Amino acid sequence: MGENMERPYVLHVITPDRNVSPFDANMAYDAGYNAIVPYTNVVLEEVKTLVQDAIFSRGPRGVWRTGVFISGRDIDLAMEMLAIAKKSMIPPFEVSVFADPSGAFTTSAAMMAMVEAQLKKAHGQDLNGCKVSIFGATGPVGGCTAVIAAKHGAEVELVAHRSVDDVKAKAESYNKHYGTKIGYVDGSSENLKKAILQKTDVALCTATAGIRVIELAQMKDSPTLKIVVDTNAVPPTGAEGVGPMANAEPIAGTNAVGFGALAIGNNKYQIQNLLLKKMLEGQTHVYLDFLSAFEVARKHLD
Ligand SMILES: NC(=O)c1ccc[n+]([C@@H]2O[C@H](COP(=O)([O-])OP(=O)(O)OC[C@H]3O[C@@H](n4cnc5c(N)ncnc54)[C@H](OP(=O)(O)O)[C@@H]3O)[C@@H](O)[C@H]2O)c1
Repeated sequence: MGENMERPYVLHVITPDRNVSPFDANMAYDAGYNAIVPYTNVVLEEVKTLVQDAIFSRGPRGVWRTGVFISGRDIDLAMEMLAIAKKSMIPPFEVSVFADPSGAFTTSAAMMAMVEAQLKKAHGQDLNGCKVSIFGATGPVGGCTAVIAAKHGAEVELVAHRSVDDVKAKAESYNKHYGTKIGYVDGSSENLKKAILQKTDVALCTATAGIRVIELAQMKDSPTLKIVVDTNAVPPTGAEGVGPMANAEPIAGTNAVGFGALAIGNNKYQIQNLLLKKMLEGQTHVYLDFLSAFEVARKHLD
């Protein structure tokens, strides 16, 4: 035990990108890691060697104080890296691994947990059977959100802003990987967006920062719309009428409430902190992806 007391908590950060995200580095130090070691420009084939190099040097008890964090921008690549890392463990030399590319896993988990809590509180229902339309769905946040919602019974559609082929390819890829039935719809004109908003329960804006995607006139008087979430904090916000601080705030002229980027961000921060602490606390290892992040997020809001 004495031997273990003085050992620092080390987090090996593996990324296919040129840089490790300073946001993630800060988060890891704040959660209790003593050292963050970056590995950049990493390709899939290097993951096994890096992980096995990290697990053997500190003994079976030292592995409790060693973790691997996988980042980057591509959610499929991060999930593949996580799977390889998991397969590379040689018991009892096993360390915890947490993937959160682009912060998308924790952002989407935090967002969907807030949506689910609001559905329960205000409408006595959960995600099951709920219609969820995702605007800006081709990015990492939109993709993870779609899979979480679909895995929990929602009827999910990815909304195309340019070409239906883009969202069709994404939907087919997610459905193949995750056994979901995510659909897609054309939202390339203002009228098409209005038609979608008049029929959906939950609208999520996960588009590139600084782009106004949906407007009040399109949401107005929708008989179904219950919740609008906007993850973009950069003006103009993605959904008109949903301010960055909105936390279940009524949206003028609609029956819906809005959740803004800073309210989501605050919950995301807490979820990432909880997941990093989960890696540090146990005398065992955990593997964390966006689906396990969602489980942690919904418990946190319970
Ligand atoms: N609140 C938080 O805590 C938090 C955390 C992380 C991220 N974010 C924010 O969440 C959003 C999503 O993040 P991300 O990394 O997934 O974003 P991203 O990859 O930058 O953008 C997502 C998608 O938006 C699409 N898009 C571009 N213009 C559009 C338009 N006019 N209408 C609809 N979609 C459009 C793009 O599709 P095409 O490439 O096909 O054009 C892109 O794939 C960003 O605004 C980001 O800043 C917030």
